Amino acid sequence: MAVERTLSIIKPDATRRNLTGQINARLEEAGLGIVAQRRIRLSLDQARQFYAVHQSRAFFNDLCEFMVSGPVVVQVLEGEDAIAANREVMGATNPANAAEGTIRQAFGESIEANSVHGSDSAENAATEIGFFFAECDIVG
Ligand code: CMP
Repeated sequence: MAVERTLSIIKPDATRRNLTGQINARLEEAGLGIVAQRRIRLSLDQARQFYAVHQSRAFFNDLCEFMVSGPVVVQVLEGEDAIAANREVMGATNPANAAEGTIRQAFGESIEANSVHGSDSAENAATEIGFFFAECDIVG
């Protein structure tokens, strides 16, 4: 086990329903520290760049349009095995398949409006954190 950092995004479907506090409480209860956090409105260019790995997928344009449809909260989470721990508390991508007690099971509306994003590997976590935060923004 090692202390890691991961990037989390609270998506527009969740900010729209005032769920930021409830989601943050679940992250903290899972042992993840919120060591940086900012509420922003993504530009379409930023969304397309952030999700560039999915650009050949059929859902890419819809996903980017959704991500700019309202404010998002970008955050850095820190803790033991933070990448896996965050993915566990988030639940499966499709809320219909997400386990009881997970954020997506509780709050997700659809595979697109699934309330939260979390980095899926150490390499992607480093890239995604750097996309939004400078080292001096992160206070562990
Ligand atoms: P996220 O973890 O943000 O990473 C990519 C997102 O694409 C994913 O969550 C889903 O919200 C979204 N998405 C939309 N449609 C699909 C799909 N068919 N398969 C996987 N992800 C999808």
